[in-house]
Amino acid sequence: MRLLERQQALDTGLLGFRNLWHPQPFREIRPDWCEQWPALADELLALPDGSVAYLNEDLSAALSLLARHIPQVSVIGPLTKLRAMPQHMLAERGAHWAWEIPGRKRQQIEAFAAATESGGQPVLDWCGGKGHLGRLLAQAWQTPVHTLEIDAGLCESGSALARRADVMQEFVISDAMTTENWPQPGQHAVALHACGELHRRLIQQGAERGVGRFDVAPCCYYRGVAEFYRPLSEGLQLSLSRDDTRLAVTETVTASPRETRKRDREMAWKLGFDAWRREVSDKAYRSFKPVPDAWMRTEFSDFLVKMSEREGLPVPSSGVADEFEARGWQRRHDLMRLSIVRHAFRRAIEVWLALDLAVFLETQDYVVNLGSFCERQLTPRNLLISARRV
Ligand SMILES: C[S@@+](CC[C@H](N)C(=O)[O-])C[C@H]1O[C@@H](n2cnc3c(N)ncnc32)[C@H](O)[C@@H]1O
Repeated sequence: MRLLERQQALDTGLLGFRNLWHPQPFREIRPDWCEQWPALADELLALPDGSVAYLNEDLSAALSLLARHIPQVSVIGPLTKLRAMPQHMLAERGAHWAWEIPGRKRQQIEAFAAATESGGQPVLDWCGGKGHLGRLLAQAWQTPVHTLEIDAGLCESGSALARRADVMQEFVISDAMTTENWPQPGQHAVALHACGELHRRLIQQGAERGVGRFDVAPCCYYRGVAEFYRPLSEGLQLSLSRDDTRLAVTETVTASPRETRKRDREMAWKLGFDAWRREVSDKAYRSFKPVPDAWMRTEFSDFLVKMSEREGLPVPSSGVADEFEARGWQRRHDLMRLSIVRHAFRRAIEVWLALDLAVFLETQDYVVNLGSFCERQLTPRNLLISARRV
């Protein structure tokens, strides 16, 4: 399927199901779809914990569950399935190229490098950190590499590693958002996990300046989005808020049992406080500032008093806390289950965002491929936009 076709189909599909993925059960206790599809809500609310964890992880399973109630949802899954990019053999790089790179990061870099191909152009490694990717490409492709990075400390460490590896890699300490000198015409720009506006700027400025090739694996799409995401491509009907773009990167982070218990308690307590706030103030959700860690180590009754004082609410009388703590746990139970609906669309939102960049590049005379450069287990941000100027 051509990128533009896929983009249009996904745009229409996501727009049609906006009422499923847009509402956040943290804010809306019962999103409107619960009334529209009560059997779906009942099935979700009755799920055991194990199934909740599984359905939050396995998006195909979650979409299949939704499709049993809303058959039209089945169009979404195939639109999010992208091919794995072919992996090329990397030239022998010696045992020491990966000094100081943590194991998983090293595997991501190697997979990214193997999914890209040199066109013989000099390389620009955009927001490159210590320049591990740039160093690998300099070695594998025998090409000069510039690594642009804002953090001088990272550049210094990266330069030392480059000298040790004896590769043609120079570091440029610069702000990617304001630099006028980079990217340069004819370069091969690579960016592994340059966040939000940083990867969008590379693509926009790079296309304007005639970059020869791009290989970009985006991440943190919400960074730099004000209220609404501003697409680079044209003709889209869907409008994403900043929170919608966050959905693309909402992953359940694997945690130890102790961390999981802490996280669950935090959520239940915050929801317990929210229930109290709705009881004594207005019914709508209101966000609140981050909660000091120390408050989470007390009893719920102390936490509720402190939060009420800070947020200018009546202080609860003694005896009220137990009821609101129980309500918090109940809301957490429901929220985890109702969120499965929203989370089922997160890859679709991510693919929509990546397609926006890919289709934009097509309109700027690039031949573009969009696929995955590694398994999700290595990094969930595994999409790669690969483009070369015709
Ligand atoms: C997620 S890290 C990725 C680093 C590297 N590409 C990798 O995969 O190991 C993002 C990098 O962007 C850099 N960065 C953040 N804002 C920047 C800016 N405005 N200009 C240049 N680099 C920036 C950070 O310091 C960080 O090293």
